Amino acid sequence: MLNWDDPFAATANKLTEADTTTESAPAANEPSPRISPVQTPTPAPQITVAPVNADDKRVINGMTDINQLAPFKYPWAWTYFLNANKNHWTPLDINMAQDVHDYRHKLTMEEKHVYENVLSYLTTSDILAMRNIGLAVMEKMSAPELQIYQARQVYEEALHTWTYQHCIETIGLDQSEIYNRYRVVPEINQKIQLANNRLNSILRSDIDLTNRDELENFVMSYAFFAGIFEGSWFYNGFSPIFALQRRGLMKGTAEQLQYIMRDEVMHASFGIRVVKQIIKEENVVLDPAKVQAMFEQAEAAEKTYAGYILRDPILGYSKEDHIGQFRFIANRRAKQMGFAEPFPGAEDALPWLDEQANMKKEKNFFETKVTEYQTGGALKWD
Ligand SMILES: [Fe+2]
Ligand SMILES: [Fe+2]
Repeated sequence: MLNWDDPFAATANKLTEADTTTESAPAANEPSPRISPVQTPTPAPQITVAPVNADDKRVINGMTDINQLAPFKYPWAWTYFLNANKNHWTPLDINMAQDVHDYRHKLTMEEKHVYENVLSYLTTSDILAMRNIGLAVMEKMSAPELQIYQARQVYEEALHTWTYQHCIETIGLDQSEIYNRYRVVPEINQKIQLANNRLNSILRSDIDLTNRDELENFVMSYAFFAGIFEGSWFYNGFSPIFALQRRGLMKGTAEQLQYIMRDEVMHASFGIRVVKQIIKEENVVLDPAKVQAMFEQAEAAEKTYAGYILRDPILGYSKEDHIGQFRFIANRRAKQMGFAEPFPGAEDALPWLDEQANMKKEKNFFETKVTEYQTGGALKWD
């Protein structure tokens, strides 16, 4: 058994025993062990030990020591990390009892269809978000303060996946069916494939970001994930369930999603800053037609998705609301990234949605934890 006060003790004892029982003195006719000749020590190579100069750091393609956190070149990245740590929660903190009752006795068939498909889309999306940041993006960063926040983001995406799993399990939905839905429902699959294609294009070990084509593709992918996938699809993706919450239904799930939304607003805002910084440092000029096409592709996929989840209308929320709000938020994200508005004239279809993102806290169970969490409205996007 392991001794936790001295975990190596047992192993050490065993080793001693083995040493004395299995080793024996060499036989007289065995050759004696070779002895190495005395080596003359060679002088140590001259290495530079001066601290990293913050000005030399770059978001990507930097040559400074990645293991040296400070001095910061991007102090805002460190602030994001500190801020993210003020929003610590787990899905177990939120009571789901009423949701079980609502799902079984109050939701209509149409509302159940919305609820299940939104969860099914979100849970697959969060796995993709985690893999994007953790496997494809983080390794390309050359300043540690950026990686530190991204490491937190990886954890948060895993936490979000746990949250959906907690909802799916508590409500008693068929897990293998719900998790597989993105593969059998083309209207969900289309959005997932758009993200998958972007991710796969940068999830390769042979990428050289000093190559202009590779660099442009990486920036487009980061802009897609920050501005569209997280900044628009996630931001807007919770709203069908918030619409139920506004009618007093599925309030536990909605509250879980509010905490996720706060994280996602931070992810989008951080990602957009990184994109803009790369564009500046590397003098990237993106083709406006390609950017516009990226937003239009996302809009087409969102339209198909909205048509499926809201094929039969539910009280207080329609597919027109959903797609209208997508266009309105997509314009906001495009402007934040310094691009032209892809959908000029789009109006705010869900004026209550920003309130959800800016929620300070509704209950006091975080009283000792969440004190000054920065909400979407307070974030610096520039
Ligand atoms: Fe997430
Ligand atoms: Fe995220």
